[in-house]
Amino acid sequence: MSNAAQHVAIIMDGNGRWAQQRGRPRLVGHHAGAKRIREIVEACPAVGVKYLTIFAFSTENWKRTQSEVSGLMRLFKRYIRRESQALIDDGVRVRFIGDRMNLDDQLVSIMDELELVTSHNKKVNLTIALNYGGRDEVTRAVKRLAREIEQGKLAAKQVNAKVLAGFLDTHFLPDPDLVIRTSGEARISNFLLWQSAYAEYEFIDTLWPDFKADEFSQLVSKFGSRERRYGAVS
Ligand code: IPE
Ligand code: IPE
Ligand code: MG
Repeated sequence: MSNAAQHVAIIMDGNGRWAQQRGRPRLVGHHAGAKRIREIVEACPAVGVKYLTIFAFSTENWKRTQSEVSGLMRLFKRYIRRESQALIDDGVRVRFIGDRMNLDDQLVSIMDELELVTSHNKKVNLTIALNYGGRDEVTRAVKRLAREIEQGKLAAKQVNAKVLAGFLDTHFLPDPDLVIRTSGEARISNFLLWQSAYAEYEFIDTLWPDFKADEFSQLVSKFGSRERRYGAVS
């Protein structure tokens, strides 16, 4: 039985090692990594991917040196400014997930602006996880849900998986079908914990700055031949 990967999520890992192999600072790897995104987004329609979600910065990445963190924040601003026209031209709707509270105001306002100017696009839905962590997301969701119960807008007995999912940052997204992690690490590092309950995983050795549309398309095609049972017997 063949099925299409409607939603592919990617843990874009290996930028630091890519730079290190070249004797360059880690930020050079992050810049090379950011440049790869457009080609992957543009490869989506041909392979039937409607939703692409990419992990750009985790809630744990604040533990890195101050210079790497501030370099990444500058890169995110630059990336958004530089790519917004191409995203519009490609029919890409961009949305961000993650906690915006700890991001600087200028970055948050250009994120809001990009969401707004691409809000009518329909070809590809690109979701960028920025200051995102699965546990943090579930915690924030439960806090909002608890507040609604406190205020009498919701009864505890009404809470089920669907209701909780509606409070997550990803409430507008279908669950990911396929999660790809580059750079050879076989872990999920707090990415889409709730949403990936039945996702298929691909851990590949390629470092993110070397990841090309060909490899992406091959992984998506390979996914099409897997049988997903969701706990049942085929
Ligand atoms: C992923 O690349 C990008 C971010 C986490 C921001 P890394 O920076 O983790 O690269 P490695 O894992 O050190 O090679
Ligand atoms: C996960 O990669 C986060 C992103 C790709 C943005 P990390 O490099 O931060 O994850 P660990 O530290 O190897 O688990
Ligand atoms: Mg890493």
